[in-house]
Amino acid sequence: GHPQLHYRANDLYLEGARLSDLAQRFGTPLYVYSQAAMQQALAAYQRGLQGRRSQICYAVKANSSLAILQGFARQGCGFDIVSGGELQRVLAAGGDPAKIIFSGVGKTRAEMHQALAAGIGCFNVESEAELEVLNTVALELGTRAPISIRVNPNVDAKTHPYISTGLKGNKFGIAHERTLDTYRRAAQLPGLKIIGIDCHIGSQITEAAPYLDALDRVLDLVDAIQAAGIAIDHIDLGGGLGIMYDDETPPAADALWQALLTRLDARGHGQRKILIEPGRSLVGNAGVCLTEVLYLKPGEQKNFCIVDAAMNDLPRPMMYEAYHAIVPLHAGSSAQQQTWDIVGPVCESGDWIGRDRTLAVTPGDLLAVLSAGAYCSAMGSTYNTRARPAEVLVDGDQAHLIREREDIADIYRCERLLP
Ligand code: LLP
Repeated sequence: GHPQLHYRANDLYLEGARLSDLAQRFGTPLYVYSQAAMQQALAAYQRGLQGRRSQICYAVKANSSLAILQGFARQGCGFDIVSGGELQRVLAAGGDPAKIIFSGVGKTRAEMHQALAAGIGCFNVESEAELEVLNTVALELGTRAPISIRVNPNVDAKTHPYISTGLKGNKFGIAHERTLDTYRRAAQLPGLKIIGIDCHIGSQITEAAPYLDALDRVLDLVDAIQAAGIAIDHIDLGGGLGIMYDDETPPAADALWQALLTRLDARGHGQRKILIEPGRSLVGNAGVCLTEVLYLKPGEQKNFCIVDAAMNDLPRPMMYEAYHAIVPLHAGSSAQQQTWDIVGPVCESGDWIGRDRTLAVTPGDLLAVLSAGAYCSAMGSTYNTRARPAEVLVDGDQAHLIREREDIADIYRCERLLP
């Protein structure tokens, strides 16, 4: 799955950088990202959408490092944000406000105000109540908010229940059946300007079929909305394309988009502007997390390999029982191969990174947790008062420190002692 990761003379490299050198220089745990891998992932979408009016809006939540946002901004990307905080990050990284879209079910008035003042491209409105509030806030500012309505198409993305979003029982979007009425209402509100329609059905989707189903349902709605005399320019099909963590075989971004555009053309919507909100598929397989083996604790039932990265640094295994491959930075260890549970120092049994992995390890060895570019650092915490790891971006033979290792005092900076 990792395009830029390879062994050379038994040492693991990301692009031109020997990862053990980076671990030495910056310490562990350490996140390392490949600029080339991110560019390759973006290029697949650009190929797939070639010749169309389109805007790729990177879903900031997947990895919101300023330098990563800056890289995407330089490639012409827009951004899908879900908070005022993400808006501030995108602007700090040089993102173009006109290419920002704002998703999320709980936008506050203050966030709406902030986004209108910045001049973002579109609000993806997720409820009828939000529509009314956004109208009011826009009128207070003497402006009109560009909107699309997020439809819940009620299709099964066939993914983990925690990351499936397009089913009736999910909190996201407006029910398919309510959509037309909601557009009619929006068209009456003077503080709103309808520009599109939106859906996002889930994450880590590994088949094309749910996307085609969602597109069909959205196009049915577009036809009905147009027939009601309401013009819509763009269709936003969200993000959600999966990556290979283990043995998944998701479609390539360009192949997926060829199939979707063929369907769009067949239904007479070939001229529409297309927006997409990919997150994981742009960064997931561009990043690794380096960690050092602290102790080996063989036991009767389980052998534990205790490493210096933990659930606070990399929460996906704990949260979703997610699989991340784990490989040595130096292949060809003389230690015996054994089955290990790779666990962190945090005081919870749920603090594991990998289970039942066959590895030859000794204390002091360095390991890489793969596919760690998306929803890993971004979901990290400082639980157990553990400082957030440093982050490095590799670009050819250059390695840039893009996040310093956090200082413990940073963690409690906002706390106050009693008088
Ligand atoms: N657009 C919207 C409205 C979203 O809610 C999301 C992700 C995306 C785009 C980007 O989806 P992607 O292309 O990354 O699949 N923490 C979970 C994933 C949560 C996804 C949330 N929404 C995980 O680690 O698997």
